[in-house]
Amino acid sequence: MENYKPYTILNAAMSLDGKIASKSRDSKISSEKDLLRVHKLRSEVDAIMIGINTAINDDPLLTARYGYNAKPIRVIVDSNVRIRKDSRIVKSSKEIKTILAIAENNIDKARELEEHGIEVIAIGEHKVDLKRLLSILYSKNIKSLMLEGGGELNWSMLYNGLVDEIIISIAPLIIGGRDAITLVEGDGFTSINSCIRLHLKDVIRIDDEVIVRYNVINNINQKSFY
Ligand SMILES: NC(=O)c1ccc[n+]([C@@H]2O[C@H](COP(=O)([O-])OP(=O)(O)OC[C@H]3O[C@@H](n4cnc5c(N)ncnc54)[C@H](OP(=O)(O)O)[C@@H]3O)[C@@H](O)[C@H]2O)c1
Repeated sequence: MENYKPYTILNAAMSLDGKIASKSRDSKISSEKDLLRVHKLRSEVDAIMIGINTAINDDPLLTARYGYNAKPIRVIVDSNVRIRKDSRIVKSSKEIKTILAIAENNIDKARELEEHGIEVIAIGEHKVDLKRLLSILYSKNIKSLMLEGGGELNWSMLYNGLVDEIIISIAPLIIGGRDAITLVEGDGFTSINSCIRLHLKDVIRIDDEVIVRYNVINNINQKSFY
């Protein structure tokens, strides 16, 4: 079971200059038509995963709406248990299955959240161990996972070789700003030779937006992390 993981699709809406949120953390980048696509995809997967900064900044519900009616499992990656008790996720966690992935040293902090109906998975000593988390999710019958960012979690998932497919909606916008959030944050690779390579699967144009779909090619660099 160790090596099994859900098929993982990273989905994001990005400006032409690679930002997924402005410096004030405004992230309303998708058009109405793109939102339909996002909600359809949400309705097709077993679970949706986000990082804690996205949970705090956007306060999302992570259900499939816009004519789609589904409630995939929500997975929040939150080593230090920073999730707000008054967030829409916590408030709806008795109706919608929610998993909070935390670090093992913070297990006591998370007890109260279990009373709200949240399943807490403590994995990794000080930071969530994503490889082991995905293996646990697979064992819970989560076979497909939609990764909805943000930039830090996208980096960790890609760096650990856990992303299979990337779907990006490129909006006709320039956001700019060195303090804005880019699609992939983290430490980054030092050389182009060592970076993650992609294979273009599909390109769709919707008005002024372009939806690009890539498969992640497991290069030598990624394999060395297994
Ligand atoms: N346009 C879009 O499609 C889109 C989609 C999603 C998000 N966003 C935007 O992105 C912004 C947030 O992005 P972000 O990069 O600041 O944060 P993020 O990726 O949402 O969350 C990162 C945080 O997750 C926690 N974490 C726990 N374990 C981790 C691990 N193994 N690897 C990485 N992170 C881990 C860390 O906090 P702890 O150490 O405290 O646990 C880390 O700081 C928001 O403004 C949101 O609106 C935009």
